[in-house]
This record gives sequence, structure tokens and C-alpha cells, in this order.
Amino acid sequence: MKIGIIGGTGGMGEGFAQRWCLNHDVLIGSRDKQKAEKAAEDNLNNIKGMFADKLKGTISGNDNISISKESDVLILSIPYDNIIGTCKDISNTINDNCVIVSPIVPMGRNEKGFYYIPIEEGKKSAAVLVAENLPNCNKIVSAFHTISEIKLKNPKMPLNADTFVCTDNKESLSVVNSLINEIEGLRSIFLGPLSLSYQAEVITPMILNASKQNKIKHPGIKLV
Ligand SMILES: NC(=O)c1ccc[n+]([C@@H]2O[C@H](COP(=O)([O-])OP(=O)(O)OC[C@H]3O[C@@H](n4cnc5c(N)ncnc54)[C@H](OP(=O)(O)O)[C@@H]3O)[C@@H](O)[C@H]2O)c1
Repeated sequence: MKIGIIGGTGGMGEGFAQRWCLNHDVLIGSRDKQKAEKAAEDNLNNIKGMFADKLKGTISGNDNISISKESDVLILSIPYDNIIGTCKDISNTINDNCVIVSPIVPMGRNEKGFYYIPIEEGKKSAAVLVAENLPNCNKIVSAFHTISEIKLKNPKMPLNADTFVCTDNKESLSVVNSLINEIEGLRSIFLGPLSLSYQAEVITPMILNASKQNKIKHPGIKLV
């Protein structure tokens, strides 16, 4: 499977690429093709250093538009503020069957701590905003909001965590669940339709405040 990562040069992109390249062809996307190529090379070298014998996939880099044309699954690993512009750029290039994944957390920080932008500023959840700006796509899945990039970027570290997943499309759910299962120690917990994604997204500022106040490094969540 070809997994494209828009904004794949960021921390989360690095983690996704290194976790999934063992079994898939990962396409790192960037607004800058050369930056994507460099990130792909660095990620691949890192993985070859650790798992050369297990590597069945590849990592390559290109501009965001080019990777969006080829991808079977496309992760939107970009800041909340850039959803509208990025969706506009890719809306006519993604193929009909492409599964779009949003790990995006609309989060800000003030003197009190981290906060969820849709509550404080009356804006939409990230997943709802993605869906509104990709009107021809019915395969949108929201997931990975509470996974720390520091842990994700260490492919030798099992995550020992859950991730809440929302979608209106059961077929896409099974595609994303199988990618979640490939990340050791990560469990998928289905929450419901995309309109409930705010319940998953809002947990991230909450756990970051808990982390800061209680000096807990890179916490995740787990239902028990
Ligand atoms: N970091 C975490 O621990 C974490 C955990 C859970 C969820 N998330 C969510 O996952 C997403 C990615 O996180 P991240 O920390 O990897 O993000 P990031 O480093 O802030 O940004 C990722 C990439 O987005 C691209 N980007 C930046 N500004 C842009 C713009 N104006 N227009 C289009 N693209 C732009 C950049 O790629 P180029 O410059 O190469 O184009 C950048 O490398 C975010 O929505 C975040 O809320 C993060």
C-alpha cells in the first residue's frame, strides 16, 4: 500500500514513516520537494540502521501535490490553521478510493495552559473542517491525536496506548485499524462518526496540561 504523509517532514510524519515503512511504501510530502527528499533519506537510513532485515517497504519524498495523486492512504500531518489551504490544493488530485486520515489537534496555549481551539474560539473540530473542505471524499478517518511524537519516532519503543478513531465509513475504519495494529502496543478504540472527533481531539490539550502540572513525560491514554 502507498501511504502518503502531507507535512511528512514534521515530527509526527517522521514517526508515521518509520513505523509503516517496514510493510508499505511511504511517500513523505512537503511544500518543498527537496526537504521531503532529505527527510525520506534520513528516515530510511535510520530504519535501515535498526531493522534492515525486516524492511519490506520504501520511503521516498516529493511535493505534497505529487504524493496526493499516488496515495492509497493520505495522512494530513499539518497544523490546524493550514487545513483549508492544504485541502484546496489536494481536493482535485486525490483518487476516489483514497482514505484521508486526520491526526490534527486544534490546540493553543496561554498563561493557564493548553486549550482546545474549537471550545475557546468557537471553531470547528479538525476532522469536520477536513470533511467540509474535501467534499468529494467520503473516506475520512480521525485518529492518532493522543500519540506523542517522541514515542512514535522511536520505532523500537512499543506505545502501550490507545487511540480513539472516528469515521463515517466502515471500510476506511478497517484500513486504518490495520495500520494502527502495525504499530506495536497501539490499540484502536472506535468512538463513532466523524462528528464526534472533537471528543478525541480535546483529550490532547488535557493530557498535556496533566503532563506539565505533574511532570509526566510524553503521556498517552489507555481505557481500562
Ligand atoms: N507532535 C505531536 O506530538 C502530535 C501528537 C498528536 C497529534 N499531532 C498533530 O499532528 C499534526 C502534525 O504534527 P507535527 O508536530 O508533526 O506538526 P508540525 O511539525 O508543526 O508540522 C508538520 C508539517 O506541516 C507543514 N506545514 C507547516 N506550516 C504549513 C503551512 N502553512 N501550510 C502547509 N503545511 C505546513 C510543514 O511541512 P513542510 O514545511 O515540509 O511543508 C511541517 O513539517 C498536527 O496537526 C498536530 O496537532 C501532533
